[in-house]
Amino acid sequence: MQQGRKKHEVVERARPHVERVAEDIRRLATLGADPGGGISRLAFTTQEREAHDLIAEWMRQLYLDVRVDSFGNTYALRAGRNPSLPALAFGSHVDTVPNGGGYDGAVGTIGALETMRLFHDNGWETEHSLLMVVFAAEEGARFGKPNLGSRAVVGELTREQMGQLRDANGSTLEGALQAVGLDPDRLGEARWAPGQVAAFLELHIEQGQVLESERKVIGLVDSIAGSTRLMFDIAGSAVHSGATPMHLRRDAVAAAADLTLGIEAIANDHRYRTTVATVGKIEVWPNSITTIAGRTAVYADVRDVDSVRQREAANQVIQLARRLEEKRGVEITVTLLSDSSPTILPTWVRHVTSQVCDELGVPYRVMPSGAGHDASVVSSLVPAAMIFVPSQGGISHAPQEWSSPEDISIGITVLCRSLLALDNIAHTLKTASWTDAHSEGADLDAIETAAT
Ligand code: HGY
Ligand code: MN
Ligand code: MN
Repeated sequence: MQQGRKKHEVVERARPHVERVAEDIRRLATLGADPGGGISRLAFTTQEREAHDLIAEWMRQLYLDVRVDSFGNTYALRAGRNPSLPALAFGSHVDTVPNGGGYDGAVGTIGALETMRLFHDNGWETEHSLLMVVFAAEEGARFGKPNLGSRAVVGELTREQMGQLRDANGSTLEGALQAVGLDPDRLGEARWAPGQVAAFLELHIEQGQVLESERKVIGLVDSIAGSTRLMFDIAGSAVHSGATPMHLRRDAVAAAADLTLGIEAIANDHRYRTTVATVGKIEVWPNSITTIAGRTAVYADVRDVDSVRQREAANQVIQLARRLEEKRGVEITVTLLSDSSPTILPTWVRHVTSQVCDELGVPYRVMPSGAGHDASVVSSLVPAAMIFVPSQGGISHAPQEWSSPEDISIGITVLCRSLLALDNIAHTLKTASWTDAHSEGADLDAIETAAT
């Protein structure tokens, strides 16, 4: 235990280098930068791989054991004193949505790198090895299905799906991997072996406005919303916009608008009080001002932290589409792009992070995450926790996305201290296996002692 306290005292004096972190975030943001502002670094594009290469270069400068797995996830290992113990993993992602911001994923990745620098620069040793991970393809924007890299490590992605998932240009996920030099047939090699990782921590921006509005600096996530993503292919008739009387039309854009407003109305229904539903993408063919659209594709994202409401709302949306077929004389084909359940993150890991915040005197609150994250996928395999820092104005997935260097620095300190606390627990729960610690019945007193 004395060992743990010594480490904490040392951490007291060590602070993340705020400017170095800000500079790294700026440097990362140049990869995939859009001419008019914002960043487009989509899953399995050369821009995303350049970002992984840059992070790997920075990892190698810390003399870490760096490797890229068969699915494009990038790792850096800092060996612990006891190689027989499972590693403590932490990290995030570096891909973005189209014209996204420079902080979603980047804060957790650069924050993990800075954490490795703190351990390296201060010569801190741990019992458990530290495993930094940059997951590939976290955003679902390109292929419709999010968290592809973390799904690969937990074994949730199949080789067959890689040939089925397509982007807007018709490229398959399989083809996209091959285009960046990865072999889809080696998908299985990316899986984490049982017992390889003890716990996973992800530092991330909140992407909402709760922390800022409540003047809290840290959010500790208890649940992560699930999402059901649907694509509605609406077939009408492409005819002349001037010569076709209103009652003779099968207007696919008007049907798409009807569906979009109907989806909004479902999410606003009091029965679905924690449900959010969004149509953020509509494709129109032939997309010409003088032609009534013969076809549209409407992409809907239905999310909730309650799985029953999430699925019921999605079902309501599908029934609405069926009614619109009647009403507008169009054909609507529904495709389920992806469906992930809400995740409840284990209390005991969050308890470690909250003890660290209490010890640091950092104002925090426990909160749900409306955004999806790799931590929710990873938590199906190992205990996971998320540490949020505020997003200015709650803006995310947009060029204006921003978090303050000071808040990011505090987030990194909480990440760093939580890793040390988790490392200590191995000593106090010497007899208990990690699965015992993972159970809700973990000895919280022991955890409390270890984290202080
Ligand atoms: O879309 C999301 O929920 C996250 O930003 N990947
Ligand atoms: Mn995102
Ligand atoms: Mn993210």
